[in-house]
Amino acid sequence: MTISSSSSTVGIVGSGIMGSGIAEVAAKAGHDVVLRSRKQDTADAMRAGLEKSLGKQVEKGRLSEEERDVTLARVTTTDQIADLADCDLVIESVVEDLAVKRALFAELDEVVAPGAILATNTSTLPVVEMAVATGRPESVVGVHFFNPAPMMALVEIVAPLTASEETAEAVTEFATGCGKSPVRVADRAGFIVNALLFPYLNNAVRMLENGTASRDDIDEAMKGGCNFPMGPLALLDLVGLDTSVAILDALHAEFADPNFSPAPVLRRMVAAGHLGRKSGQGFHDYRR
Ligand SMILES: NC(=O)c1ccc[n+]([C@@H]2O[C@H](COP(=O)([O-])OP(=O)(O)OC[C@H]3O[C@@H](n4cnc5c(N)ncnc54)[C@H](O)[C@@H]3O)[C@@H](O)[C@H]2O)c1
Repeated sequence: MTISSSSSTVGIVGSGIMGSGIAEVAAKAGHDVVLRSRKQDTADAMRAGLEKSLGKQVEKGRLSEEERDVTLARVTTTDQIADLADCDLVIESVVEDLAVKRALFAELDEVVAPGAILATNTSTLPVVEMAVATGRPESVVGVHFFNPAPMMALVEIVAPLTASEETAEAVTEFATGCGKSPVRVADRAGFIVNALLFPYLNNAVRMLENGTASRDDIDEAMKGGCNFPMGPLALLDLVGLDTSVAILDALHAEFADPNFSPAPVLRRMVAAGHLGRKSGQGFHDYRR
C-alpha cells in the first residue's frame, strides 16, 4: 500500500482537539479529507473550525484566498462510518480509551477497503491491541501527532510487532508529505516524548500540591529557567487533564513506575469537569 504524498483520501475519526488539527494538516498537504464524527453537527462544526483557522491564516498573509478555498473544498463531513470506505488511510483520534479504540478498529476493518491503512493517534496505548482487533494487523500503525498538530513538527511513527515494513514506510512518507518530521519508535507506552515528558508534568502537579511553589511560579520557573515555551501546568491544560490522566494511567500500567501514578488532584479536577483549555478551566482560567 502506498499513500501518495498528495492526493490520497484520508479519513479522520474523532472531532476533538487532535482530530481537527490533523484534518487541517492533511487537507493543506493536498489530500481529500473525510471527517467522521458520531454526530453530523459536530463534524460540521469541525469543518467550520477549519474554515475559521484557514481564514485567520489568510488575514495574516500566510495563505492565499485561493489556497483557502481549494483546501476547504477537499474536506467533506459525515456521521456514517461507511463513508470512509474509499479512504487510503484512516487516522482515528477518539478518546484515549483502549476498549473504545479496539471497537472502532473492528468497525473500521469492516468498512474500509482491504489494503488501506488504519492508524491511531494514541498517545500511550498499545498499538498492537488495536491491530489484532482487525483482520489486517499488518496494515495497522501508530501515527502520533503533537498538539497543536498544524504547528508541531514531530510525528512519532509506531510500528507494532504485527505491522509490515511497507505500512510503516507508507505512513512515514505521508507524514513527510504533510511537512512533518517523523521519527520511528517501538510500541511502548508513551513512545519517546510522553514517556519522558509525563513524569515531569506529573511531578509539577505534586510540587503544586505539596506547597513547594505557586502555580504561576512553577510555570514561570520552567519558562525562564529552561527556556520552555510554556510551563508544565499550562501544558497540562493544553493537552487536557482527562487525556493527561489517561496517558499517566497507561504509562503506570506498563512500567509500574510511581512517577507515572497520576497526582491525586488531577483525577479530582477531571471529576469536577476542570479539563483545561477545552472546558475553560484547568490549572489556569480560560473563561475570560
Ligand atoms: N490532547 C493532546 O495533546 C494529544 C496529543 C497527541 C495525541 N493525543 C491523542 O489523541 C486522541 C484524542 O485526543 P484529543 O485531545 O483530541 O481529545 P478530545 O477530548 O479533544 O476529543 C476526543 C474525541 O473522542 C470522541 N469520543 C469520546 N468518547 C467516544 C466514544 N466512546 N466513541 C467514539 N468517540 C468518542 C469525542 O467526541 C471527541 O471527538 C487520544 O488518543 C489522545 O491520547 C492527544
